Amino acid sequence: MKLEFHGLSKQFDQGRVILQPMDFCDEVHTLAIIGPSGGGKSTLLRIIGGLLPPSSGTLSINGEELPKEEEGLQRYRKKLGFVFQQGGLFRHLSARENIVLPLTKVHGYSETEAGKRADELLERFGLGADGHKKPAALSGGQQQRVAIARAIAAKPGILLLDEPTSALDPEYTTEVLDIVNELKEEGLDFIIVTHEMGFARHACEKAAFLCEGKLMEYGSGSEIFDAPKSEQLKNFLGRLLEWNM
Ligand SMILES: Nc1ncnc2c1ncn2[C@@H]1O[C@H](COP(=O)(O)OP(=O)(O)OP(=O)(O)O)[C@@H](O)[C@H]1O
Ligand SMILES: [Mg+2]
Repeated sequence: MKLEFHGLSKQFDQGRVILQPMDFCDEVHTLAIIGPSGGGKSTLLRIIGGLLPPSSGTLSINGEELPKEEEGLQRYRKKLGFVFQQGGLFRHLSARENIVLPLTKVHGYSETEAGKRADELLERFGLGADGHKKPAALSGGQQQRVAIARAIAAKPGILLLDEPTSALDPEYTTEVLDIVNELKEEGLDFIIVTHEMGFARHACEKAAFLCEGKLMEYGSGSEIFDAPKSEQLKNFLGRLLEWNM
């Protein structure tokens, strides 16, 4: 994807600046957004996804400008897939219905086409026998696999993931990250907000370090993780390493 933004900022009503005006322009297939809590990662991802309007600036993905009006925004969002930290699934629907519903309601699939696509994805993600279960009857890892299946069902150009594994036990984290990595191998571009530094470093082409509302550093895994420049990134990485084995 070609991601470009200029003077992009966010300020909420109370006047606090959440994102300082930032510029970015690169052609990148897989991007990790890392940084301390409250730094503005989710806010930036939601702006990129057309879920939250920026206070200023311009943004485009693959040359397509982020629209301002609702109709344009709906069209823009349809080309993206979203996976959130948790609770993104409709609780009253089965896993299969969670995948089918957006396909029929948003993307214009027929019931039959949508059902076929849902079954194909459930099978693929090892959930062939679980399609009838509601989210509460699935493990956290299974729920996130359903969420990913739902997000990619309509074959979006880009997948946006906001801490998809942060609510999971370590063994489930791996299975979810494996799926994201597999999708990458198939050519799906993604932007992921993550605290899984191994994944950010090894599975993503580039990483952006967001801290205190600023895009402080950006580069390849080795630039960000082996040669951090700012004190903030050095501290952030240092703290992460503190309890590592
Ligand atoms: N709707 C809102 N209104 C006012 N302030 C908000 C709103 N949403 C987020 N914020 C504030 O913006 C700042 C950045 O939040 P954001 O969720 O983007 O951080 P984050 O980097 O994703 O953090 P975390 O790692 O904890 O998820 C926080 O201080 C948060 O309190
Ligand atoms: Mg967040």
